[in-house]
Order: sequence, then C-alpha cells, then structure tokens
Amino acid sequence: MRELIPRSFRLHTWRAVRRGRQFLQRFRVRRDVRSAEAAYCADPPSNQTAIDIFKGTWTSAFPPQYGVTAGTLDSFDDVRVGWAAGVLPGGFTGLSILELGPYEGYTTWQLERRGARAVTAVEANDLNFLKALVVKEVTGFKARLLFGDFAAYLERAKERFDLVWASGVLYHSADPLHLLDLISRVTDVVFIHTHYYAPEIASSPHAYSFFEPGRNRTTSLTSEAGQSGRDVTIHYKAYGQLKRGSFSGGPAGHSYWMEKDDIFAALRARGFDDIQVGADDPGNPNGPAMFCLARRIR
Ligand SMILES: C[S@@+](CC[C@H](N)C(=O)[O-])C[C@H]1O[C@@H](n2cnc3c(N)ncnc32)[C@H](O)[C@@H]1O
Repeated sequence: MRELIPRSFRLHTWRAVRRGRQFLQRFRVRRDVRSAEAAYCADPPSNQTAIDIFKGTWTSAFPPQYGVTAGTLDSFDDVRVGWAAGVLPGGFTGLSILELGPYEGYTTWQLERRGARAVTAVEANDLNFLKALVVKEVTGFKARLLFGDFAAYLERAKERFDLVWASGVLYHSADPLHLLDLISRVTDVVFIHTHYYAPEIASSPHAYSFFEPGRNRTTSLTSEAGQSGRDVTIHYKAYGQLKRGSFSGGPAGHSYWMEKDDIFAALRARGFDDIQVGADDPGNPNGPAMFCLARRIR
C-alpha cells in the first residue's frame, strides 16, 4: 500500500503537516491539561483550600480581613494605586478601566474598592489567571477576568476605557512601542509602571548578562500627525529562566526594554502630553524603574 503513494508526495504531505503543527504551536496554550493528574481535596471547602491549590507560588499576602495565608508581599496595599488615585481628579470613582496583566489580582481588587465602575483585566499566564480567579472568589470582586494575550485583545478592542492600567508589563513586552500604540487607541489616560534601560545597568554584571546588545533594534518615532522624529533603541533582554510557579513575565523568551526618555517621547508622539511621574528609582536592583500617569489633553 505504502509504495502506491509516491515518495515525493509523502514528503510534501509530511512537510505540510509539520508546518501546520508549527503554526498551531504558536497558538497553543502551554499546558496540556489532558496529561495533568487531578488532585482531590479531602478537607472541608474554604477559601484556604482554594488558595492552597497554588501553595508555594503566591507572592501576595491577602488583606487580613480574609483570614487566609498565601504569600508575604503586601501587594493589596499598593503605593502606586494610592498615588494614581490622588493624581486623577475624582480618583478611580466611576471609571472604566482596562488592566493589563493582573497577576494575582491585587490591583484589580484595589481599583474596584476605590470606586472603579468596571474593570476588565487581561492575563495570558494560565497559572496567574487561575490564581486571580481564586482571588476573585475569595474577595468577591466583580471585575471581568479574561484569559489571553493583552496585545491580541487590544488589537481587536472596539471599546474605549477611561484608564488603561499598564503596570509591570511594558518591560515584559517583545514589542513595547507597538504596545504603546495599541494602548493609545483605546484610552486617553494610561498608568505605566516599568523598568527601563539605562547605561548604568552595565555596571551590574548580573543584570547586564541578560541583555544582548547585538539584538537591539532602532526605530524612528512617528507622531500622530505622521511626522517622523527621534530614533529609539529598544534593548533586547532574555529571560533565562523557566516560566514556572510565580513567574510573572511575558509570553516570549525575551523582551525589549525602552529607555526612560524614549518612553516619554513615545507617549508624547501619541498625544499623551501631560505626563506626571510618581516615582523614579534608577538604583533599583532589578533595573531602573519608574511609574507615571500620562494623559492626552484634547
Ligand atoms: C510583572 S507582572 C505585573 C503584575 C501587576 N500588574 C503589577 O504591576 O504588580 C506582569 C503580569 O502580566 C502578565 N503578562 C505579561 N505579558 C502578557 C501578555 N502579553 N498578555 C497578558 N498578560 C501578560 C504576566 O503573566 C504577569 O501576570
């Protein structure tokens, strides 16, 4: 039977199948749940039993009123949220907010408690998404949690938001300028907390070893009016770690870090002329970091 099919046809078919598999691979969710073993809980149901599904991976400590044990960081009481609430006229009250990368849902919880009208949070990491769902169940927040890539979401978004909360995501993006573009299509107000590239990183051998200057890219910023302006270099950084447990980076094996002034220039080129910086921490051991609120004044 086999010899009835010409060898060239078999080869062609096999290559097509392989290409198809490679194509599908790009869209496949990382985890194949069919091979995961189910774990049963023999204890009476409680918030703690749900939290303990992810025992050992939690970063955040829940607020004391929930009476549960998870991580240790007080992420639910966040200086960034408090700062932004003070800068926005009226704080978060009544706002529709798109949150990129909620991780353990602590910001989602705070935005809602501070009066946001509607929060949509988009998370691509399955473990983080499920942990955020557990937080939603424990705390009862109402926000919509979506599982998927936020850039893909933004590319298709028809809705506009009063605020985009882009905290801890720009430096995890493999295309940060495009991400800023996408954000600027759906809002006139964006909060950004990010690490940024600065030459001083070179003095930290550990941090610098993950940067690969040979893979940097330089592009020219284009304004909303289509005028091209300054050249921007984005800096390639490999993750060099497995995406397990509490991993909170991006989906690719690398990201590109922007320089601080280029972030501001890119925001201005997209019409976000009013930029207020809440904190700048050039000596941060994980790399220089800052947070800001940028507004398009029409
Ligand atoms: C560093 S954490 C930031 C968490 C939180 N926003 C904060 O600022 O504390 C980044 C989060 O974004 C998620 N993430 C990264 N890239 C993403 C993408 N392309 N789409 C959706 N989620 C993404 C990660 O899985 C992680 O939960």
